[in-house]
Amino acid sequence: MTSTGKIPKVDQTTSYDVLVVGAGLAGLRAALAVDPALKCVVLSKVYPVRSHSVAAQGGINAALDPEDRWQDHAYDTIKGSDYLADQDAAAFLCQDAARAVCEMEHWGTLFSRRPDGRIAQRSFGGQGYPRACYAADKTGRALYQTLFERAVAQSIAVFEEFFVVSLVVAEGRVAGVLAIEIASGRLVAIPARAVIFATGGAGMMYARTTNPYIATGDGLAIAYRAGVPLKDMEFIQFHPTTLPGMNVLITEGARGEGGYLLNAEHDRFMVRYAPKLMEVAPRDIVSRAIETEILEGRGFADGSVHLDLRHLGEDLIRHRLSEIYDFAITYRGINPVHDPIPVQPGQHYIMGGIATGVEGQTTLPGFYAAGECAAVSVHGANRLGANSLLDTLVFGRQAGLAATRFCREESKAPPIPEAGWEEWQDRLATLRARRAPLRYGPIRARLRTTMTENVGTFRDRRRLQAARGVLAALRDAYQHAGVMDGGEVFNYDLLAFLETGFLLDLASTVVEGALVREESRGAHWRNDFPARNDDQFLKHFLYTWSADGPVVGEAPVAITHYAPKPRTY
Ligand code: FUM
Repeated sequence: MTSTGKIPKVDQTTSYDVLVVGAGLAGLRAALAVDPALKCVVLSKVYPVRSHSVAAQGGINAALDPEDRWQDHAYDTIKGSDYLADQDAAAFLCQDAARAVCEMEHWGTLFSRRPDGRIAQRSFGGQGYPRACYAADKTGRALYQTLFERAVAQSIAVFEEFFVVSLVVAEGRVAGVLAIEIASGRLVAIPARAVIFATGGAGMMYARTTNPYIATGDGLAIAYRAGVPLKDMEFIQFHPTTLPGMNVLITEGARGEGGYLLNAEHDRFMVRYAPKLMEVAPRDIVSRAIETEILEGRGFADGSVHLDLRHLGEDLIRHRLSEIYDFAITYRGINPVHDPIPVQPGQHYIMGGIATGVEGQTTLPGFYAAGECAAVSVHGANRLGANSLLDTLVFGRQAGLAATRFCREESKAPPIPEAGWEEWQDRLATLRARRAPLRYGPIRARLRTTMTENVGTFRDRRRLQAARGVLAALRDAYQHAGVMDGGEVFNYDLLAFLETGFLLDLASTVVEGALVREESRGAHWRNDFPARNDDQFLKHFLYTWSADGPVVGEAPVAITHYAPKPRTY
């Protein structure tokens, strides 16, 4: 496996064919698509069922009804993306959606049903047809349970609690990863012929987020540091309805079922922002509308507006929206059957990610990405609700199939170079020994408040430049910060330190992209450039790592059928 055998092996296997990093929906779907004759392993930072996919609530889109068409779904997705989605990729996603949903149903997912037994579908933002299939408001969990059981049944190997620090690149292709075995602190190399990243999002960059603590953008930052470009990073999604304070998600499905948004003047204000679709306009529009109401003094004192479900009745609320019913009671002491729920926008998703094609392929041979960490790009400047679960299943499978083909075509992976392992070994030893008054906590906290205050729903040059300045200072502070725990075993202090480094790298790409994109498109709104500017900015930005910060390049948007038009709802 290595030239001298100095690098610890993770187990007795000398080398894997396909290594999947991340055990959420995209990762498990990828692993299930890998030819069972190949040796495949899934690596996860956490126990798999703690992956963020299980928190997805409202639904998964697919044109299932005869009156609906995948082409209409594709059009809604492209319009929702503010015409920045690659239209061939969006068409692929939507055309494959019915197959993906039916496959999950055949594998055992317990979708909610219509009275005639068909899969129930509800309205979601920015869509011309109610096409979000759902399992009450626990759709992610229902899908995840199905894939997890299937992975267990197929004896897919999972290494739990491994923290990947680096991609190994040798002879111009991927050769595996370096990872910390969290329980022991050992730095191990895991050689593989193909590597798939399905590592999720980076919501921990923001103070107000629906994302969990594990969403620290590890995969994006590791790929970026390995020279793989990131794409569309300036496009951050803010979900309109999260509980103030902890920012727990209150599903868009609640508005899809007919919930109203009301300001402090009891006004259904969406009529002024999206008179046709009202509360089920796309997320970028609804989030900006809510923020505007609050900024202009029509919000409630806790920085919220109200989501009123009372007219939907107890039966609907308790059965189709059972999770948010529980959340409202548990976290706010509010029973939505009797009282409106306070809500405010919170960071929810990153449209950008590792630049991939529809097979999950990247610029690095043998390296693939799928799910939230990837930018195919099907979401462009604004993802439609219920398209992310679909993305995980469709492109997770694609990546698994492509990695299988790669293994069939390519020879064995080159050996893991010892130098790279030694370099990381030294770096970790130095970090463990480095006692400094400053730890990761204040750096991460400042990063998160800076991003929320300056790189949020509304942006402008002054605030973005302020964020750039703070980030430079934080990167400098990070070089001199240290850890308190010098131990090996379950050293979460060290891991959080490393994660903070990932977040700092990624935040720079978001800020630099947001500065360069002098227009407003989808979730990226510039107060100083409030119009979309197709002449100059109908293009993707690509971010390549350099020691001086991201180098911003460009790539064309694939336009096939739909010429960009003004986006009204
Ligand atoms: O609101 C929600 O249920 C979230 C869905 C999504 O992000 O796709």
